[in-house]
Amino acid sequence: MPATVIDGKGLAARLREQTKGEVESFTSSTGVQPHLVVVLVGEDPASQVYVRNKERACKAAGMQSTLHRLPNETTTEELLTLIDQLNNDAGVHGILVQLPLPKQIDEQSILDSVSPLKDVDAFHPENVGRIVQGRPRFLPCTPAGCMQLIGEVCESTAGMHAVVLGRSEIVGKPMGLLLMQRGADATVTICHSRTRDLPALTKQADILIAAIGKANFVTADMVKPGAIVIDVGINRVDDKLVGDVEYGPVAEVAGAITPVPGGVGPMTIANLLKNTLAAARIQQNA
Ligand code: GUN
Repeated sequence: MPATVIDGKGLAARLREQTKGEVESFTSSTGVQPHLVVVLVGEDPASQVYVRNKERACKAAGMQSTLHRLPNETTTEELLTLIDQLNNDAGVHGILVQLPLPKQIDEQSILDSVSPLKDVDAFHPENVGRIVQGRPRFLPCTPAGCMQLIGEVCESTAGMHAVVLGRSEIVGKPMGLLLMQRGADATVTICHSRTRDLPALTKQADILIAAIGKANFVTADMVKPGAIVIDVGINRVDDKLVGDVEYGPVAEVAGAITPVPGGVGPMTIANLLKNTLAAARIQQNA
């Protein structure tokens, strides 16, 4: 039986609608409109699209959105100066620095410089530390979206074996943390480029998260029948977007699967909006 297709687009729309309602009541009771500032350095074409979608979604949810576009030659010091201004601007609640940054910029020092109270990506070490300790301030947008997608087809992940492909700071690592935290209670294996006999591990996965950035990497023979497969990949192949999972054949084996596009992608933005409202609330109460 072919897999259930998990509709990320629909779930994200519902989540955005919910956030929009919460923004309305927050704004009417405080007079404050949540404000996200996105910083885009350079001309990366994929980033341009992501940033435009983030701006649109913010406005649709009743939030203010400002985009700072900086030239490709921007230095670390120049970017740090802008972030310092945004940190000290009480009218800005969330700050997102779009990644990747041009290579002359020291990415870690930039992410470290964003005020942890405005860090809607949850990339600041203080916020990462809080996630590790199971007391998050903000949930990382993409991993949180994956958890919500899993929740659509699975009442409890307790005791399930979740295998995460990829150990990035944005997805793989925090994904493993959310899956293992109390309440989710999955048993987690994180795989990466040096993992031995990957198919032997992926075939054990009740939940398989693919976040490696390689088109069609996960094939049907790597998937346990009935598994929940979450595809975080967005790869451009011959002008078409494909995930890290070979969708057609894997959908014949899996129990549930997310499509690309229309799976994880829209969830990331929905959680960004949620975090921006949370940031405005935190600063209102500070
Ligand atoms: N680039 C790709 N994904 C992301 C994300 O979630 N946040 C930021 N800031 N940049 C990204």
